[in-house]
Amino acid sequence: MSLNFWEEFKSDIYSLAPMEDVTDTVFREVVLSVATPGLLNVLFTEFCSTDGLCHPVGQKKVAHRFYVNPSERALLKEKGVKLVAQIWGSKPEKFSQAVKFLTSEFEFDGIDINMGCPVKKIVKQGACSALIGKPELAREIFQATRENTELPVSIKTRTGLKKHNTEEWISEVISWKPAAVILHCRTQTDQSDRPADWTQMNIAVELRNSIAPEIPLIGNGDIFSMEDAQRFMIQTAAEGVMFGRGIFQNPWLFNESLSERTPSEKIELLWKHASLFEETWGRSKNFSLLKRFFKIYVSSFGNSAKLKNELMNVNSLEEVHDILNSFNSSIPE
Ligand SMILES: Cc1cc2nc3c(=O)[nH]c(=O)nc-3n(C[C@H](O)[C@H](O)[C@H](O)COP(=O)(O)O)c2cc1C
Repeated sequence: MSLNFWEEFKSDIYSLAPMEDVTDTVFREVVLSVATPGLLNVLFTEFCSTDGLCHPVGQKKVAHRFYVNPSERALLKEKGVKLVAQIWGSKPEKFSQAVKFLTSEFEFDGIDINMGCPVKKIVKQGACSALIGKPELAREIFQATRENTELPVSIKTRTGLKKHNTEEWISEVISWKPAAVILHCRTQTDQSDRPADWTQMNIAVELRNSIAPEIPLIGNGDIFSMEDAQRFMIQTAAEGVMFGRGIFQNPWLFNESLSERTPSEKIELLWKHASLFEETWGRSKNFSLLKRFFKIYVSSFGNSAKLKNELMNVNSLEEVHDILNSFNSSIPE
């Protein structure tokens, strides 16, 4: 049996983007718990440094990024969703070492190499999107990774540095024959501010068709709803999509029902998230990391602004409990 799960999905592949401080085991489980089977196929961890993974002290610091709760594991299995670990770095030997460790000590379905992050302090180290300007090193990194794992290795990247350079860069990436390519349709300098240019995916699809038609292409950038996803796949003929910030607008993004959620449903999911966070991380992560999430559950219902304000000042699960309790008793039956 092939270990390459990407081969199981022919088209309409739906995934949630790797997002630092967002897609930990807790949030992934929350999203999974309300996803309709078949409408979410692949989840990604937060990115993790290969330098960190190869260092005895660093390893302890970054290990939380790859932690998977047993309850998430059970849901992944039940809903047939794959989990991919994302790594980044600039030295091929660190990728070899990190990926051996990852493959032997963890249970991921695939490895993804970050060749897209535009954050300055990372680019300065010659990693992530900086690799777009160093195709030889990028290839060495891919090869060092692939040679040291049986898991499928995908690449998540952008279209260029200052300008779109899709023809040249994506031809290069496809020539390595990765298991999949996730193309964020922006350049490095676009950050996430400028609109994504979906036509770059049309260029990538054409190239891929002539070089290696078997490699799935997944598009990313300004895909905020299932409607956008359909439009993207029809316009570009890509095999799948990756949603990023769209999940902040709607945690039910991967649910077949398009109806607006009731305040009670939103509050219930918020509580699930906060209590699972506390159970999983205790005091090892800052409780205020949850505040960015409260906003996504508490929106567009009467009194939501007041509730949101109150939640912005909490520091513990008990405080969340008390605020939600008094709010719940004010919801009409
Ligand atoms: C808070 C945040 C954290 C992110 N962290 C990562 C990361 O760890 N790895 C990665 O490849 N991309 C990361 N990204 C980029 C997203 O994966 C995605 O490519 C980007 O948000 C564009 O998609 P969108 O327009 O649908 O949001 C992050 C984005 C956000 C908003």
